[in-house]
Amino acid sequence: MSIWKRKPLAQLLAEAADSEKGLKRTLTAWSLIALGIGAIIGAGLFVRTATAAAQSAGPSVTIAFVVAAIGCALAGLCYAELSSSIPISGSAYTYPYATMGEFLAWIIGWDLILEYAVGAATVGIAWSEYLNNLLVNVFHISPIPYSLSHSPFQSNLETGEHGLINLPALFIVAIISLLLIKGIQESAFVNGIIVIVKVAIVILIIVIGWNFINPVNHTPYIPQSSIFTDEHGIDHSYGGILGILGAAGTVFFAFIGFDAVSTAAQETKNPKKAMPIGILGSLAICTLLYILFAHVLTGVATVEDFRTGGKEASVAFAINKYMIGYEWLGQLVTVAILAGFSSVILVMLLGQSRVFYAMGKDGLLPKSFSDLHSKYKTPYKANIAILIIVGAFAAFVPGDIVGDMTSIGTLFAFVLVCISVIILRVKEPNMVREFKTPFVPFVPLLGVAVCLAMMYGLGWTNWLRLFAWMALGVIFYFSYGKKNSVLNNKK
Ligand code: ALA
Repeated sequence: MSIWKRKPLAQLLAEAADSEKGLKRTLTAWSLIALGIGAIIGAGLFVRTATAAAQSAGPSVTIAFVVAAIGCALAGLCYAELSSSIPISGSAYTYPYATMGEFLAWIIGWDLILEYAVGAATVGIAWSEYLNNLLVNVFHISPIPYSLSHSPFQSNLETGEHGLINLPALFIVAIISLLLIKGIQESAFVNGIIVIVKVAIVILIIVIGWNFINPVNHTPYIPQSSIFTDEHGIDHSYGGILGILGAAGTVFFAFIGFDAVSTAAQETKNPKKAMPIGILGSLAICTLLYILFAHVLTGVATVEDFRTGGKEASVAFAINKYMIGYEWLGQLVTVAILAGFSSVILVMLLGQSRVFYAMGKDGLLPKSFSDLHSKYKTPYKANIAILIIVGAFAAFVPGDIVGDMTSIGTLFAFVLVCISVIILRVKEPNMVREFKTPFVPFVPLLGVAVCLAMMYGLGWTNWLRLFAWMALGVIFYFSYGKKNSVLNNKK
């Protein structure tokens, strides 16, 4: 029984091809692009752009988006090769199984919980905040009481009220889990509608906002280096190169999710062609929209607005304050944000359930996670387990703790995926690769370097949390996974 035992590539490919008894193949390259955009555009764009401009980079947050996009594109090229060559639902969890052995596959599978499950909870909590924003600012009615829309670890500094449970966050996670159980096609359809709404609103803001750009706000485009101390007394490097790098770490969150496309590989028609298009296409479209959006937002409002007036609702604030006559757009943005967050949660939960499905099949998690619903052909038991885990996080944990853990967990997964490409090229040189990552090993190595640099930028507390999470995973592996692993217990 070796923890380094690799899953034979032939066995993986046979599992991927065995679609008769498994998940339904219904998705096309277009649905994959829509899934990618569904997962990508969310809190990162609508909330973190202003935060990154305020704390780190001013208008040069656009350059920060380019830096983060380069890191994602390098990892995206590696994902494209692996997901088109080994089109199987476990995605990043499965690739190391063929290259680095079971233990590292487990590590990455465990790590992906940070990206997908914890990420979905983070966005669920943000959804709850914006729901109250919608009730108050758009419908002009009372918000959901503080105690029922916050975790027990939060209290309102002004009124002294304590949180009890975050019901709206729990609600959205539950509704979306039920939709996912109903079917991948239904989920993809709902996602498609949301994507159209949110992309339309992002484009509207770019086009209309362009006329309201005040060049003074863009001068200088890269602010001089200084230190900005935020309201919690935390210092941030503002301006210059360091400011841009800090902002890149913050806005990286905005790109998380493009890789979730790869977990739908086993439900995709012709995954060998569709996967690279879905992953790289959604990434390219979002990068372009992000840069234009950030350019407009930082041109319309001042950094001071983001710091003191708008804060996490800076986009609506900027529109209402400066784009006179377009207040309706400010209200639409709130709707777009709510819709946008919903699709992010949808794709994250989808990704998580497909990873649990694969891990259940391999025996590293309970076997029942790979049971498919007799009618809907979805891994409904995995979905229900995830609903319980993510629902608990969403209902009882404050959002700021989980946000950066999502980023560091995702970056760590990217590093391992980049390394997998290099190892697989050496160990399986003859494998049929429909899409090939260019300039191997330089592209994957550069991907590793850029992702590690962004991880470094997230600070030691997040490293500590990552290590603690991984330590928990190692304990779980040796007490459960190793004993129940199908590969390790073959007679
Ligand atoms: N990229 C996703 C978002 O920005 C996680 O909400």
